[in-house]
Amino acid sequence: MRLDKYLCSCTDLTRSMAKKALRDQLVTCDGVVVKDPGFKVSEDTLVTLEGRPLGPVATRYLMLHKPVDFLCSNVDELYPSILNLVDLPKRETLRIAGRLDVDTTGLVLLSEDGQWCHQITAPRRQCAKRYRVWLADPVPESAVAQFEQGVQLHSEDGLTLPAVLERVAEREALLTIQEGKYHQVKRMFAAIGNKVTALHREAIGGIELDPALAPGEWRVLTEAEVRSVGG
Ligand code: URA
Repeated sequence: MRLDKYLCSCTDLTRSMAKKALRDQLVTCDGVVVKDPGFKVSEDTLVTLEGRPLGPVATRYLMLHKPVDFLCSNVDELYPSILNLVDLPKRETLRIAGRLDVDTTGLVLLSEDGQWCHQITAPRRQCAKRYRVWLADPVPESAVAQFEQGVQLHSEDGLTLPAVLERVAEREALLTIQEGKYHQVKRMFAAIGNKVTALHREAIGGIELDPALAPGEWRVLTEAEVRSVGG
């Protein structure tokens, strides 16, 4: 790989900043100052920037506690992207594995590992997601069987897949679904004549939102959490 490209791949430098660092003689390869941006770097080359050894950025796996008024998008739009909450270099390379609405809070998983993200989002994988739901009207006992059997969502073919509903208070429930259709939880409750007033994702597959994370905070996933996906 070219040296300027390598510098960009493992730091926050843009290509022009990398070239300037090279011109300013801040970069060494195997102990020798190199100014040529086209210098070829191999896996064994020891590259330093201002005396600091550089290495390839390892693939990252993170959980984030999404607050309201942040977007599950890689760019800012009407609301800021959740990536603003992740103070890491190259955060724009992270993919969001399963989006939440702007007014939904809770667990979001992020990684550069596209295959890993795909295992969470691919419909045929039927990865379970558990939501805590607050409702405008009381949840009748009959809703448990309705969601178990599947409900008809507006402008969708066929019924929703079997979902597990657990009533925890008159207007509060836990719902586990295996799909990720647009606004799915809100539309499922609309289909039985109720209205979601607040929604919070607590778990994706075997990964639970860490209760130590306040809204807006994130942490690196443990190896066991990473391995639990697709297992
Ligand atoms: N279902 C919804 O309706 N909204 C979400 O953010 C997630 C699931």
